[in-house]
Amino acid sequence: MIKLENVSKVYGKGDLEVSALKDVNLKIEEGELIAITGTSGSGKSTLLNILGCLDKVTSGKYTLNNRNINNLSQKELSLVRNQSIGFVVQYFALIDSYTVGENIRIPLDYARPRISMSKKNKMVESALDELGILKLKNKYPDQISGGEAQRVAIARAMINNPEVILADEPTGNLDTKNTDHIVKLFQELNAMGRTVIIVTHDMKVADKCERVLEIEDGVIL
Ligand SMILES: Nc1ncnc2c1ncn2[C@@H]1O[C@H](COP(=O)(O)OP(=O)(O)O)[C@@H](O)[C@H]1O
Ligand SMILES: [Mg+2]
Repeated sequence: MIKLENVSKVYGKGDLEVSALKDVNLKIEEGELIAITGTSGSGKSTLLNILGCLDKVTSGKYTLNNRNINNLSQKELSLVRNQSIGFVVQYFALIDSYTVGENIRIPLDYARPRISMSKKNKMVESALDELGILKLKNKYPDQISGGEAQRVAIARAMINNPEVILADEPTGNLDTKNTDHIVKLFQELNAMGRTVIIVTHDMKVADKCERVLEIEDGVIL
């Protein structure tokens, strides 16, 4: 479902030029559970951002679900992102002035504006229930713990039922108990058929994945 062919990513120009990815070839099948590991600055986030259609390749070809992503406009890219991809980041990126329920509803408002508010609320509640955090619905982000915030961020990432879930250091700020819980959630989402790709430097997290990709200096080893 995911194919990168000779993909390179260069940031900046001239003296400031950084080659963050160098001639990467990668194939990921539907339903895989994958970890991407590597030291800081090796290109993990760059790779994830490209897979998540947040950023474009400098050269090479990215194919997602048989679609050539290179040729898409910004508008088409954001549509693919909203419909096919769920993104989870380390710092949760919840909006402080919105309740948990409202935070989770945002992607629905973008991707499926025609659904009624009551239907959206039902979808939000069932996502919260699935992750065991229904009781947090009317709380604000500063009223919940880090482990709870990460579960909320996962609920938000899966609300549009994306085929692919991308997580960038999702357990980077969590203690062991919460890390185990989050990894289990990803395993469950994967068991339900979703492709899950987790960037992590935690070997205990990587060990729970079916395939581990190691990246060094922009090259997949
Ligand atoms: N927006 C950017 N502008 C310039 N350089 C960047 C940018 N993002 C990342 N880089 C550089 O690209 C390289 C890879 O970064 P990144 O993908 O964030 O690595 P990782 O996630 O593995 O820590 C690093 O050298 C980093 O400094
Ligand atoms: Mg990173």
